Amino acid sequence: MNNHPTIFSGIKATGKMHVGNYLGAIKNWVTLQNSGQYQTIYSVVDLHSLTIGIPKKELSENIMDMAMDLLAAGVDPEKSIFFIQSHVKEHAELTWILNCILPVAELEKMTQYKDKAKQHKDNINMGLFDYPALMAADILVYRATAVPVGEDQEQHVELARKAARKFNNRWGQYFEEPATIRTKTPRLMALNDPSKKMSKDLGPKSYIAMNDSPEEIKDKISKAVTDTGGGKHGNGGKNLLDLFEMFVDDEQITTKFREDYKNGELQYAKFKPMLANVIISALKPIQERRRELEKNPDYVLEVLRAGASRARAIAAETMKEVKEKVGLI
Ligand code: AMP
Ligand code: TRP
Repeated sequence: MNNHPTIFSGIKATGKMHVGNYLGAIKNWVTLQNSGQYQTIYSVVDLHSLTIGIPKKELSENIMDMAMDLLAAGVDPEKSIFFIQSHVKEHAELTWILNCILPVAELEKMTQYKDKAKQHKDNINMGLFDYPALMAADILVYRATAVPVGEDQEQHVELARKAARKFNNRWGQYFEEPATIRTKTPRLMALNDPSKKMSKDLGPKSYIAMNDSPEEIKDKISKAVTDTGGGKHGNGGKNLLDLFEMFVDDEQITTKFREDYKNGELQYAKFKPMLANVIISALKPIQERRRELEKNPDYVLEVLRAGASRARAIAAETMKEVKEKVGLI
């Protein structure tokens, strides 16, 4: 391990990566990785995916799929430790220790749990409830101090801070409290319903997937809801501007569009095709890399295996120290 501060983040293996994930988190993972300022550790958190009743074959496919999407998006195994969560058993081991200090009442407050429990009424399992403890363990097992995630994960990272505090109070100072790192678009809204967060749960019309074809992108952007409420500005137009700004590095042009928007003069008939083209060209190199990776699944598996072994070395050291602190002999 080098001497830089450690960053950890993860993404579930549930369906396709979309531009909300990319702009809210993954693009930032890559920037942080390439800055050379941090030890970056990134994971496909497959144990978290198990908390909803995902069929066996779909789960296995999703794990590889997400690993390839991340490599295509720029996660570089030479610069980051990149691995599959379930390959490092220490995540589950630390979760148990944290389970024994985290109050049930804290976990009952989690909005993601409450939402998912409503969504999956017939499968409110213990794992779904304990999801944030496993997430805290993911972060703390590497003694990470920063976590790049979208806004929806703030409450979970706060719980990880609480877990660190409780551990330190009970067994002596050991964990530093992790902070979140946000992007400019920590909460991208759904294209078909800008009152809701862009999400896999809302179906493909709500998001642009990283592997959508140019035709699909054009179609989704042209149908994207803009401003509702009798000409008053709602969130839809602003959301499209945010998307544009995140993909285009030209301040002059984005400022012009923002001003037009503010004055109610933004011409969507012109702006939308431009936005679609901007997204199409930004995703093109990522899609090409992805196609190359698909030809070589053995390379991907090898990368993941090597990543797990590096991750395990750090996690095992933490668990050894944690056990000593706790009094396990
Ligand atoms: P998930 O797919 O739920 O595992 O999320 C992976 C990452 O993407 C997390 O850091 C989320 O906070 C982030 N994310 C998910 N949806 C959005 C969104 N609509 N806007 C911004 N970030 C998001
Ligand atoms: N809960 C996160 C999400 O839904 C995924 C995740 C699991 C995570 N463990 C993590 C993110 C640790 C950051 C750090 O997006």
